[in-house]
Amino acid sequence: MTSNEIRQAFLDFFAERAHAYVPSSPVVPLEDPTLLFTNAGMNQFKAIFLGTEAAEHARVANTQKCIRAGGKHNDLDDVGKDTYHHTFFEMLGNWSFGDYFKEEAIRWAWDLLHHKFGIPAERLHATYFAGDAVDGLEPDDEARDLWTRVTGIDPSHVHAFGKKDNFWEMAETGPCGPCTEIHVDLTPDLSGGPLVNGDDARVIEVWNLVFIQFNRDATRKLTRLPACHVDTGMGFERLVAVLQGKKSNYDTDVFTPLLEAIRKETGAPAYAGTLPSAAPTAEELRDVSYRVVADHLRTLSFAIADGAAPSNDGRGHVLRRILRRGFRYGRVYLGADGPFIHKLVGALAAQMGDQFPELRRQQAHIEAVIREEEESFGRTLDQGQRHFDSVAEKLGPGGKIDAETAFKLHDTYGFPIDLTEIIAGERGFAVDRQGYETRMEEAKELARKGGKFGDIDEIRAFTHAVGQNRAPFFETTKTDDRAKFSTFELEAELIGWVDAEGRLSEEPLEGDRFCALVTRATPFYAEQGGQVGDRGTITHGGSRFEVVDTQRVQDTVLHLGNLTGGRFEAGLPVRLAVEEGRRRRIMANHSATHLLNLGLRNTLGEHVMQKGSLVDDGKTRFDFAHKKGLEAAEIEQVEALVDERITAGQGVYDLEVELPRALGIHSLRAVFGEKYPEKVRVVSFGRPVEELLEDPENPAWHELSIELCGGTHVADAGALGAFCLVSEEGIQKGVRRVVGITGEAAQHARAEAAELGRKADALAGASGDALHAGVAELLRELGEKTLPLLARQGLQAQVEALQSEIKRQHKETSRGQGAEILERAAAVLEGGQDAGGSRLLVADLPGAATDQLRLAADWLRQKSGSAAVCLFATGGEKVAILAAFTPDLVDKGLDARVLLKEAGRLIGGGGGGKAELAQGGGKDAGAVPGAIPQLLSWLAERV
Ligand code: SER
Repeated sequence: MTSNEIRQAFLDFFAERAHAYVPSSPVVPLEDPTLLFTNAGMNQFKAIFLGTEAAEHARVANTQKCIRAGGKHNDLDDVGKDTYHHTFFEMLGNWSFGDYFKEEAIRWAWDLLHHKFGIPAERLHATYFAGDAVDGLEPDDEARDLWTRVTGIDPSHVHAFGKKDNFWEMAETGPCGPCTEIHVDLTPDLSGGPLVNGDDARVIEVWNLVFIQFNRDATRKLTRLPACHVDTGMGFERLVAVLQGKKSNYDTDVFTPLLEAIRKETGAPAYAGTLPSAAPTAEELRDVSYRVVADHLRTLSFAIADGAAPSNDGRGHVLRRILRRGFRYGRVYLGADGPFIHKLVGALAAQMGDQFPELRRQQAHIEAVIREEEESFGRTLDQGQRHFDSVAEKLGPGGKIDAETAFKLHDTYGFPIDLTEIIAGERGFAVDRQGYETRMEEAKELARKGGKFGDIDEIRAFTHAVGQNRAPFFETTKTDDRAKFSTFELEAELIGWVDAEGRLSEEPLEGDRFCALVTRATPFYAEQGGQVGDRGTITHGGSRFEVVDTQRVQDTVLHLGNLTGGRFEAGLPVRLAVEEGRRRRIMANHSATHLLNLGLRNTLGEHVMQKGSLVDDGKTRFDFAHKKGLEAAEIEQVEALVDERITAGQGVYDLEVELPRALGIHSLRAVFGEKYPEKVRVVSFGRPVEELLEDPENPAWHELSIELCGGTHVADAGALGAFCLVSEEGIQKGVRRVVGITGEAAQHARAEAAELGRKADALAGASGDALHAGVAELLRELGEKTLPLLARQGLQAQVEALQSEIKRQHKETSRGQGAEILERAAAVLEGGQDAGGSRLLVADLPGAATDQLRLAADWLRQKSGSAAVCLFATGGEKVAILAAFTPDLVDKGLDARVLLKEAGRLIGGGGGGKAELAQGGGKDAGAVPGAIPQLLSWLAERV
């Protein structure tokens, strides 16, 4: 049997046992956040298992596209090295939703494998669940007894295994239950019993029958489900290998056309099927590469067809890793000299496009996405490999690639860490994975902070060391930084520079080093009160020092950074210039923080105390005491208050006063628990501080923002331009965190939201692949973009509605494709003619897909016993034609290819196939009504 026939035989077997056919769900499960990819046939039935949705059919069967390359089920690392693991595979399955249970599931599995497919009984082994103390689960003796009672299995072929092998779970949470697995012993002398579950290609698991009875929740607790269900999954590629008598899945017709296409594209010597030894030879690695590329091509094509794309996180990142890994194998071991994977998509579409038409529909898109990624990685792969080689050269046997190299390969050359591990592994080297992860964390932190020269840890360590030192020079190096409130530039005397150990040096500063300049005065703001330190430059003549951060130790301001040219000497006048655009954004965000504070208090109540804040050039982040999440109306009210002050262009005033006088002002906001000095700075909006002090108890001040604050502010609120909140969350019990943005950033966010809104609106009438891809795109953009919170919530609701629409459409097609086509086939059966003891069934099923025609033809043949079938499907660009005979008519000499030819002659077309069944297409839909009676008489003369 060909693989296509095997798939069909499986579906027919269960159709005969009253199972409705349901098409595969997409491999990208947009509606299930617990999954990266669809990893089992049962995913689409999760809600039915959990009892939150009613089943439409009590029994169903299908073949499901699955990807296991991340999350709980991950086979990525085995792919290529063995003959039977894949990241993409098809899972044949049958399900009972509260209908039949263990007995039928086991009996039918046996009937199909042994009686129908003819796998000898002595080759079959079964496993059952041995129980688990931690989860308080008994052994599944019932399954054990059923195996010996309802099948002809040798009782010594029934083995007990623990939770790892025989308790199946979909993800960290979700439906689960004990299972019984069927393994096939392929050893020549039937000695495979001890190899069951031994990770050995000679004894291979083909089918898993799960008895779904529990739901695992986030606390790891198992709860019994309202009903017991059957969920079976059979590895299609493995079954095909067994039935075609092949030792490797890659030797079956599922893979051979792909391997051939790879050979043609890369010009490599033909696939030889070798497996890698401990020290793999070039030939072995070539065969590994063939398998990897064939496997990855399938994963990429199906995932992209269903709306995913390579990217930097989530499922997109898995795809990126897979693609780069495949590309590198092709380049290094198959000799591909440029992008090549995208050129293989056509071969896959030709091979699987009948069963999965999305491959044909999306072929151009899949090719374009893969090519773009291949091209971009292709530009850095060789350089990265050279960098790797230069490091590896210096390592002795068993050496380790250091964290910095692994990081550089990732950061500069785009090598995912698992790819670096593969390359290292090929040479017998390890990789400092732990160190790499730490380095990645640092890089992320740095990116958050935006530093370029000295990284954030360096700065912290530096300032800490200087502070610890309590150097006496702090007394003599006090910095006058009052200019920070009034100017961005200043000339001042250079006192000297401080090194990382906290020593003040008055030596000339030369060369490349990270240190801190100390000046007599400065316009730079040193980090304090949640406002980040300034950046900018310090120059003298042609000498230049880049300030990456400004910190304070006691009363000394440290300008941290790097000398980028020339030299500095103590005593010289230097020019200090703050990076003005950045600081203006920081000032706007700081002023916004005050208005936000006021807005929150006025909206939510007096209990809203500030718990922390961070103001930088990108945002204001504000933590405050409040128990519940903010509702949309509250967010709106807070934003409206800030907007109103911006529109009014309220002036911003400040004044230094004695602490008790300041505290006497009605409604003044101070941070509770903060220790303030004797003299404090009051910052007020809308009224000069002097006015407030004249009439401190005036209740009208309640409407104003009045705070103790040492930060820098805009001169009037109009400078904020615009404001919006972009996020709101709880960070600990009773503390909420909001993030707001101002100015251009806020305007940009609004424009982005409007654009996404248009995209979402445009999807309202969409369906199928377009809808799926559109929602995937929206989700990606929602994840990546900074958007006004209210707009985001609205968009999320829109996306949810679209997701339900996807679900609804999927259900409809399932019903449509399975039940509806059989209904239409029933009408054809009814309207058939009898001739010579056979039934002649010739009809047009407008709009039916080719796989539906096939389903209908199979059903018709099965129902009639003896039949000649010729079906058309008009309504598409071409007319699909299917011709078929039952075996008795084939024995009489009838040939479906001849019938197809006759039909093709009448409507202008042709096709091919076998004597039992042939398929093809024609051009002239208008000729179909006339062709039907002609074919009926043609057949009547011959049966
Ligand atoms: N859900 C089970 C599996 O994936 C059986 O379909 O193995």
